[in-house]
Amino acid sequence: MAISRREWFQTALALASANSLPLRAQSQSAEMPFTLGVASGEPSPDGAVLWTRLAPKPMEPASMPNVNIRVGWEIAEDEAFRKIAKKGKAVASPSLAHSVHVEAAGLRPARWYWYRFTAGGHRSPVGRFRTAPAPGANVDRFRFAFASCQQWTQGLWTAYQHMAEEDLDLIIHLGDYIYERGNGTVRTTGREEIFTLADYRNRHALYKTDPLLQKAHARAPWLVTWDDHEVSNNYASDIHEKGQPREEFLKRRAWAYQAYYEHMPLRRDSVPQGPALRLHRRLDFGSLLRVHMLDTRQFRADQSCGDGLKKPCPEWREPNRTLLGSGQEEWLDTGLRSSKAHWDVLGQQILVTLQDFDAGPDDLYNMDSWSGYPAARQKLVETLQARKQRNTVILTGDVHASWVGQLHQEAQNIKSDCVAAEFVGTSISSGGDGADTTERTEKMLPVNPQIRYFNGRRGYVRCEVTPKLWRTDYRLVDYVTRPGAPVATKASFTVEPGKLTVERA
Ligand SMILES: [Fe+2]
Repeated sequence: MAISRREWFQTALALASANSLPLRAQSQSAEMPFTLGVASGEPSPDGAVLWTRLAPKPMEPASMPNVNIRVGWEIAEDEAFRKIAKKGKAVASPSLAHSVHVEAAGLRPARWYWYRFTAGGHRSPVGRFRTAPAPGANVDRFRFAFASCQQWTQGLWTAYQHMAEEDLDLIIHLGDYIYERGNGTVRTTGREEIFTLADYRNRHALYKTDPLLQKAHARAPWLVTWDDHEVSNNYASDIHEKGQPREEFLKRRAWAYQAYYEHMPLRRDSVPQGPALRLHRRLDFGSLLRVHMLDTRQFRADQSCGDGLKKPCPEWREPNRTLLGSGQEEWLDTGLRSSKAHWDVLGQQILVTLQDFDAGPDDLYNMDSWSGYPAARQKLVETLQARKQRNTVILTGDVHASWVGQLHQEAQNIKSDCVAAEFVGTSISSGGDGADTTERTEKMLPVNPQIRYFNGRRGYVRCEVTPKLWRTDYRLVDYVTRPGAPVATKASFTVEPGKLTVERA
């Protein structure tokens, strides 16, 4: 993504205090600083972002000196680093928790590269990434996986071990990368709810110490977006769920956003400015895929009717209740209208397919999802409907269960035009072991013909995309409360371009 002069300037400002510090090419240090692993992200046809953070003692940030530290990086065409493609120096500054974000460029499209960092006489683990295909290039096949919701305390991240063994061009994370609260007994965080910058940094650091997560990060480039728990449960823009005062909450949000940026392989476009961080962006993968990553948290109107599972109340219908905010809505419109890709993908957080949780004549909606924002939802359906010749697939997280849905012009009438397929991924660990079905979903599925599948176990979703067919495999594990669960494809689905209804494969 191109960066405007203004954004460069803002980035420079954000780093100004850091740049006034002396630069130290850290001399030999006994402690290995790369305890949080390495990551890559935001692949473009000529590069990607390379990430690491210096943290010899991840839970003791004071163990790092309050100086800038020079970090070397190199990118090779082979795993043994015989043929170096690019190398350089980056600065790890204390103002960004000694994180490193290298925007590598000048590489060749659609090929694998290996990267590593050096600091203090230590060498980081090696990661790899694949650059995106050249603009407009024909792409026969693209494979990626997506995941969400990794509550540290509720389960082990076995799913990532399996994901790292897949042959994937890309990994997408749809939010709840950290949780601001504990709630669980499988592992402990040492602290219940977090509030400050130091708290959020430590929570990210703790999560990043997981070896299976590190493995998945090292294995392929990632595209990330957040949901609510990166800040606080079910927050809406500047409104805290349980009434933390607005000013106080915005300060907390600024700290949470900063820690998020510090720990993710994001570009400079996403350097936070106070309580604002631009996360919506789009990436093209040749002529095959255009991915629109959305942010349904930062700009949304408050949940209506008291949030939770509720019957609609008058507030629910208010026509200007937004989920994306008008700026992001227009941006999405433009991006969809100008797309020439075979498939447009929306990477976002919350269910778009209508879910009526009442098995009888009443309506019962999750007020935090798109079902709780009918005007915004209808607008999105109309936008997609207006570009019928294009093929949209929506990827969703949030609800700790696998769902498959069809977005129809009339939500529950599957004879009306289908404007998008939606694949909802389950959690990596949130919710514990889970079960194949629940009583509530068994009852609600018959009155929701637009919903084609449900499963309540943990795992991730693998997608294989070609110009002629989209295939989705639900890769699930039977348990996360103890290690070593095998993975299995529990269900597979295909989508044909031009049709968009989902077929069980
Ligand atoms: Fe979650």
